[in-house]
Amino acid sequence: NTLIESVRKVVGWVPERWLPGGTPDPLIGRHGAVGTQLAQLDGPQKVRGAARFAAEVPLEGLCYAALVNSPVTRGRITRLDTAAAEAAPGVLLVLTYRNMPRLGLVPLMGVTNLGAVGNSALPILQDDQIRYNGQVMALVLAETQQQADHAARLIDLSVDTAPALSDFQAAKPEARTPASILVERNEQSAGDAEAALRQAAFSTDATYTTPGHNHAAIELHGVTAHWTGNRLVLHDATQAVAPTAAALAKLFGLRREDVRVLSPFVGGGFGAKGFWDHQVLAVAAARMVDRPVRLMLSREAVFRMVGGRSPTEQRVAIGADAEGRFTALIHTGYSVMPPYSASPEQYTLGTRSLYRAQSYRFGQKHLDLDIVPNTFMRAPGESVGSFAVESAVDELAHAMDIDPVELRLRNEPETHPLTGTPFSQRALATAWRQGADRFGWDARSTMPRARRDGEWLLGMGCAAGNFPYVRMPSGALRIRLTRDGQATLSTSAQDMGMGTATVQTQHAADRLGLPLDAITFEMGDSDLPAAPVAGGSSQTVSIAAAIAAAASKLTVELLRLAGNASPLAGLRAGEVRLAEGGLVCIEDPTRRETYGDILTRAGRDEISVTETGAPPLEIFKYAMLSHSANFCEVRVSDVTGELRVTRLLGVFDVGTILNPRMAVSQLRGGMIMGLGMALSEEVLFDERSGRIMNPGLADYHIPAHLDVPEIDVTWTGIPDPRSPLGARGIGEIGITGVAAAIANAVFNATGKRLRDLPLTLDRLI
Ligand code: MOS
Repeated sequence: NTLIESVRKVVGWVPERWLPGGTPDPLIGRHGAVGTQLAQLDGPQKVRGAARFAAEVPLEGLCYAALVNSPVTRGRITRLDTAAAEAAPGVLLVLTYRNMPRLGLVPLMGVTNLGAVGNSALPILQDDQIRYNGQVMALVLAETQQQADHAARLIDLSVDTAPALSDFQAAKPEARTPASILVERNEQSAGDAEAALRQAAFSTDATYTTPGHNHAAIELHGVTAHWTGNRLVLHDATQAVAPTAAALAKLFGLRREDVRVLSPFVGGGFGAKGFWDHQVLAVAAARMVDRPVRLMLSREAVFRMVGGRSPTEQRVAIGADAEGRFTALIHTGYSVMPPYSASPEQYTLGTRSLYRAQSYRFGQKHLDLDIVPNTFMRAPGESVGSFAVESAVDELAHAMDIDPVELRLRNEPETHPLTGTPFSQRALATAWRQGADRFGWDARSTMPRARRDGEWLLGMGCAAGNFPYVRMPSGALRIRLTRDGQATLSTSAQDMGMGTATVQTQHAADRLGLPLDAITFEMGDSDLPAAPVAGGSSQTVSIAAAIAAAASKLTVELLRLAGNASPLAGLRAGEVRLAEGGLVCIEDPTRRETYGDILTRAGRDEISVTETGAPPLEIFKYAMLSHSANFCEVRVSDVTGELRVTRLLGVFDVGTILNPRMAVSQLRGGMIMGLGMALSEEVLFDERSGRIMNPGLADYHIPAHLDVPEIDVTWTGIPDPRSPLGARGIGEIGITGVAAAIANAVFNATGKRLRDLPLTLDRLI
């Protein structure tokens, strides 16, 4: 918990009494609306096709944009002839670096810059320089999409190419060691791990690689931009509603209140639905023609101008004594992160808290390739890092002839292995035992190639996953309570399909003591109280903390409003709770008054409070992480190398489950993404041209229904006493550990240790 240290340094000192720990959220363990299987509230709208997405908003006078992307990696535009495009039917505007408004750079988001939203710090159509293959060279605006697409092809572009660096291996000698990765020091060590490794009774030391991965959400990135005078409205598919509005205001020199970003629905966002060039280009174009503009990226454009996950090359080495206790744990490697990108792909971070060892060494080096800025993608770091470390643990278990579950249990840490900080809650050992039992782990043969069904070799594997608890410090939320006993909660947060509004409706019902149908939850609009980005699996607890804070403020205001004529007269906020549609005295529950009665006597129709969640001080005192135990069964054809995953089980230790129906869906979805990572997902990159060669779903393979087996999802269900509602995020833990469990099952089936993803059949014959 170096973050704690660094914040302590910045703030100077944190008083003990500020640190939470004595007072867990009173809603933990109470059974009300939280924990029930409420169906997704916007489900019916989506099923009927009534939910309107950003690129579906109909506007009077709408025109359509098409983009021209750079065909080379580095260079300079020498000729950009737009005459034919401008003369083509229906064309309204050709936007190039020559006529694009001069704009400042988008500030990169990062741990020191939480309010910023940029994924790329490169200039957007500001000069004749080409910095990566896929960079936008021109935008064409026309009356119809077909006319825009046609005219874009008439643009005559010549370039002078410059030497570029786009080869991972060639860039390694020039690798940088940045000062820090997201929340820990980059280089960390304890003891002499290399020496301990050399002296270990048993050891493993190997290199694992993972390819680049691209975002492939169902909904493409799209915007509909619309100016009225000096006011901008942007319908956007974004994970960052308020930050996008703030960034656009800054770039276009507007007052923040003159920018409204609307994003009521997003068709999948796993880190990529952030701030990229297309928002800025559409807004500029709409201003220039003074008409509403629709810009939807093609699937190819999403691959070429929205970043994906960096490739990695990782070394994991583990030394153990004769009993299997780790004496050395080393995890280092290389990934891509040009200085204009925001995402450090922190693949060693999870390993730093996963196992107890006598010595450690961790560190990540970054390569500055000339590519589209790599970005966050579901469990950035942990998903690919867990493939390496959890494959290595399996290799050691095999070498020692110890059951891989048993080996992991022998190395469970009592406290955070590097800092000694206590875990707020960690029951990974429980998850392992629960999972082994449920999966029928004892049917596994310890010898590879021992189980066979005709030409099919059968195997089982397992792997752990972990992901940090994150709570954003600055989410604001408004509660408006009306005389008829209805409450409306409003925040600019985002529901990408995970059920945010549904779960917070459940939470609000319990927090305010109201029935579910008395709650309305509003979000996806930057005019509402500002919430941070929906990312890092943080949004549920961040909003939960804001609701708790707003409810406390509401209590104070209601008591003031109740006054001396109320049965509550003289009571203080700590002496009442919100329950059964009003305020109830804790000591003497006969002293109570409904919200409606309080408002009526005060002559008010409504009361409204806005509050920000308390700062996330719990992370100063506790190591807070979610964990998973993954189990997998595979069949591999001994003839063709065909690999079929037949069973997957994930046991999750993630705190309180707020809504089991949606939690299963979220966790299973994560595991399917892990399955894709294991079996087929791979960016094919041409090192000569810097071009992604498979920019589409025909060539970049995500799992189809036939690839996806029965996926069993369960959990320990133990609340985290240090988090709002006892919950931790569940958006990213699902993908983590899955690829390793599959690769380990493949080894168990075939005796072949595959250290490079994806596990394609050419590697299995
Ligand atoms: Mo994410 S990678 O926090 O959307």
